Amino acid sequence: MIRRAVVQGVGHYLPERVVPNSEFEKTLDTNDEWIRARSGIERRHFAAEGETTSQLATRAARAALDDAGLQPGDIDAIILATSTADLTFPAAATMVQANLGMTQGFAFDVQAVCAGFVYALANASALIASGQAERVLVIGAETFSRIMDWTDRGTCVLFGDGAGALVLGAESGEGTAADRGILATDLHSDGRYRDILYVDGGVSTGTTGQLRMQGREVFRHAIDKLAATAQSALDKAGLDSGDVDWIVPHQANIRIIQGTAKKMNLPMDNVVVTVQDHGNTSAASIPLALSVGRDRGQIKQGDLLVTEAIGGGLAWGAVVLRW
Ligand code: UT7
Repeated sequence: MIRRAVVQGVGHYLPERVVPNSEFEKTLDTNDEWIRARSGIERRHFAAEGETTSQLATRAARAALDDAGLQPGDIDAIILATSTADLTFPAAATMVQANLGMTQGFAFDVQAVCAGFVYALANASALIASGQAERVLVIGAETFSRIMDWTDRGTCVLFGDGAGALVLGAESGEGTAADRGILATDLHSDGRYRDILYVDGGVSTGTTGQLRMQGREVFRHAIDKLAATAQSALDKAGLDSGDVDWIVPHQANIRIIQGTAKKMNLPMDNVVVTVQDHGNTSAASIPLALSVGRDRGQIKQGDLLVTEAIGGGLAWGAVVLRW
């Protein structure tokens, strides 16, 4: 028998304000047709003035705890994947911990941009498998609307705000691919590509900065790297793409999602797609898609899932889990 990190609850939170593509037509040389055709995005949510990443994360965490039928006192670690933490420090995860009224356990942020949730899942799985934690709240939450250059039509129409969370708990498995829980993880980064997707501010500049992206360059890397990391995670689990019920991809661009599914020889019927409603919410996009996919009745207990993501760094990776 081995210890597996098994999904015990899932939830999400989206800010109230929904912004359709047409809104950008008022201030930029763009249109709904271009945004839909090139990215698949139709609308996105933006946080209200003063609404922070830790607040979105707390709402998603509460929803996941309710779904699991658990209390904050049942959790011994919080991992929050975000690149838009409220403050430089402390970690936004500790703010969520305080908001939940938790004084036990430990909390920290993971910063791997759009791949952040995959990195956070790998960390949570390792903590649980090694006996350092019994139950971990894994959250992805972002307010990318705070780092947009609203004059750059190549980026500001693509991103949105939101949060999603999972409760992962230790359960014993047989050590086979039939077990529920996280079965394999595969992580990569390559810092040579920092200039194709970054924020031009931070501690060293004394400003928050704004997101800068060479979209075509990121696109060029995305499909090959995503399909390869998904395949590698499946190999580690002793599975292949024919075993997959759902790809739950990072939701950056429908063309990347379609291209990756095609490379994995899977039809779009096996892919959870939310990019039309959320835009690119960076580290929040996979847990949002998991929660929405479960609510839609797509993801069911026992299903085999592959999540995959790529973003700034470049950082990318995949996780294979049985729901
Ligand atoms: O989550 C982190 C990872 N990020 C990603 O995965 C993003 C990856 N990249 C992409 O999703 C796509 O590259 C974009 C959606 C960003 C852009 O799509 P594209 O098909 O690669 O377009 P492009 O950048 O090659 O631009 C094509 C044309 C350009 O005009 P010219 O040079 O051909 O005259 C752009 O200036 O589209 C123009 N353009 C726009 N037109 C109308 C760029 N943004 C817009 C816009 N509205 N919003």
